[in-house]
Amino acid sequence: MFSTNIINNKFGQPDVYGAINMPVYRTAAFEYPDSESIAAAFQYRYDQHTYSRISNPTIQHFESKIKAASGAESVMALASGMAAISGAFLTIARTGDNIVASPHLFGNTFSFLRNTLAEFGIEARFVNTDNLDEITAAIDGNTCAFFTEIITNPNLEIANLPEISQILKERHVPMIVDTTLVPWCGFDARACGIDIEVVSTTKFVSGGASSVGGVIADYGTFDWRNNRKLAQMPKPKGISRFMFRLRSEIARNLGACLSPDNAFLQAAGAETLALRYERMSETAYRLAQHLSSNPNIVHVNYPELDSSPYKTLSDRLFTGHPGAMLTISLADKGACYRFMDKLKVIRRATNLFDNKSLAIHPESTIYGTFSPELKALAGVAPALIRISTGLEEAADLIEDIEQALGNG
Ligand SMILES: Cc1ncc(COP(=O)(O)O)c(C=O)c1O
Repeated sequence: MFSTNIINNKFGQPDVYGAINMPVYRTAAFEYPDSESIAAAFQYRYDQHTYSRISNPTIQHFESKIKAASGAESVMALASGMAAISGAFLTIARTGDNIVASPHLFGNTFSFLRNTLAEFGIEARFVNTDNLDEITAAIDGNTCAFFTEIITNPNLEIANLPEISQILKERHVPMIVDTTLVPWCGFDARACGIDIEVVSTTKFVSGGASSVGGVIADYGTFDWRNNRKLAQMPKPKGISRFMFRLRSEIARNLGACLSPDNAFLQAAGAETLALRYERMSETAYRLAQHLSSNPNIVHVNYPELDSSPYKTLSDRLFTGHPGAMLTISLADKGACYRFMDKLKVIRRATNLFDNKSLAIHPESTIYGTFSPELKALAGVAPALIRISTGLEEAADLIEDIEQALGNG
């Protein structure tokens, strides 16, 4: 059903030529026959398009594919994963609020919460998400959200979302989760208690790193009358206060819209998502298992390994293997650089879940401009290599890693 639903979702309007793929509407504006009808289209009519910063048929079609994939109540696509993350928080947070979050996050997300939002008087309260008492103690009357990544990048930690959700529900705090590392065919967002999802669709969805994009999915599960900023908003029919404010104010004012061309590429990628995910995550598991016994590697981290403290949670929350990212720890930073420089098949590049396998040394790149204190807070170790497995044969990747470690 998962792939069938994504592949067969209907166009908003039947195509006059019977095109089987939604065409790219490469236009900035849409014209109307008279003043009445263009005025009506500006009254938050989501089935009509006026200007492509606000909405566009190709982008809307991509959104409807993600709605079919996720089962969310509503979905908005934006220019990037960071546009989705910043858009979601700017929709709900106001000066004086705080966000209770894991500090072990993708570098720009960490920086957005810790630095950018701080400028607006919004505090990031970093907690150990393994410690439910710490989460409970951090929440107060000004907490506007709890936030983490479904599997943290690059430390591969998994928070017990169903249990955290109970704590949040009792305190009327929404759960926002970045689910970039596991697509919708791999877990059940509602069962985890996720209210709002933010995703970098650049990764699994785009299909071969074709383009940058992001989505915000609203499961319609949170009562936004409990949010100080949204409580005053009207509740339009069929859309939450959150999505209404995001679409009608925040997204159009910030202007980080997805381009129709990228929406086309990402819609095409979404159709092969499950197939690629299964293969890539199977390869990650095989690599993790195989490399665990390699004497040149100090530690292999992958949530499904018995050595991971998150194995039980991983088995419970995810169907199939938990994603296509693993990390290896070597003796020190020098050993990491030597290993990276000898790779022949795996590319030295940032990004995740390209068709091509990728390796990066996070401490000197994604977190390279962080102070030593911030690196420690974000939990990035100098001897860690992150590997994203692509669609190559697992045996070729193992051979490449072993020769780069010097024992191939
Ligand atoms: C977990 C996670 N979230 C968000 C992002 C940001 O996504 P984008 O690069 O599409 O803005 C990334 C990028 O690597 C990521 O790994």
